[in-house]
Amino acid sequence: MDNRPIGIFDSGVGGLTVVREVINFLPNENIIYFGDTLRCPYGSKDLNDVRKFVFEIIDFLLNEDVKSIVIACNTGTAAGLYEAQSKFKLPIIGVIEPGARGAVLSTRNKKVGVIGTVGTINSGAYQRVIKTLDAGIKVYSNACPEFVEFVERGETTGMKIKKIGEIYLQSLKEAGVDTLILGCTHYPLLSGLIQEIMGSSVKLISSAAETAKELKELIERKEIMREENSPPFYRFLSTGDIKLFLELGKKFLGKEITTVEKVSLSREGVKG
Ligand code: DGL
Repeated sequence: MDNRPIGIFDSGVGGLTVVREVINFLPNENIIYFGDTLRCPYGSKDLNDVRKFVFEIIDFLLNEDVKSIVIACNTGTAAGLYEAQSKFKLPIIGVIEPGARGAVLSTRNKKVGVIGTVGTINSGAYQRVIKTLDAGIKVYSNACPEFVEFVERGETTGMKIKKIGEIYLQSLKEAGVDTLILGCTHYPLLSGLIQEIMGSSVKLISSAAETAKELKELIERKEIMREENSPPFYRFLSTGDIKLFLELGKKFLGKEITTVEKVSLSREGVKG
């Protein structure tokens, strides 16, 4: 039993797609969500810089006394999950392994596609994890940098994004993948469009849902479930624009967010 909150963080509001699933799978858990909106996006930044951000945020969340941490950002996971697991004592999971496992379990023709930010795709992280789980699977990947911008503008349908989507996904379609990993926090909001382009026979894997399943298993196996009967709390923290967080956050979380706390990382781990 452990009544402390779970810490979940992302470069911005995209990780709320993971929070949404965590609430589904673990409805009794307290959650502190940290969105580093001031420094978003991570996807186009040097992974060494992103790793530093990851460490800073984990330090911050440790000060908030969380019992476990989810790096709900594909780029953040690619840049710093293993290093963070080695550096900090509490359980830390990312979004790449759960998504990769889901795809390995799902594929029938052993051809898996991955889409994500430039940072995630260039890191080769999905490829490595998939190959560890099943060396026979062929992985086809493509960075889709403009998708994040479209989602942040709220443009998830229409001809413009469809045209760009067709270009991004063409090589994966031609390769004949039967499973496609949405390897970026923002892409679940484009799943309608992506499914339409790829065709109904292609299975889309959302890292968000797979990560929530893994977190549930971790919490249960380690016996660190929250056992209080009162309703859980959800706190939302942001380093950047609160108004934008509230507006976009609703889309990603699927429900209204009433309060966002503005925080600063200028002094390590100290709330500003
Ligand atoms: N959260 C990032 C990811 O999942 C996407 C947005 C960004 O580039 O920071 O990779």
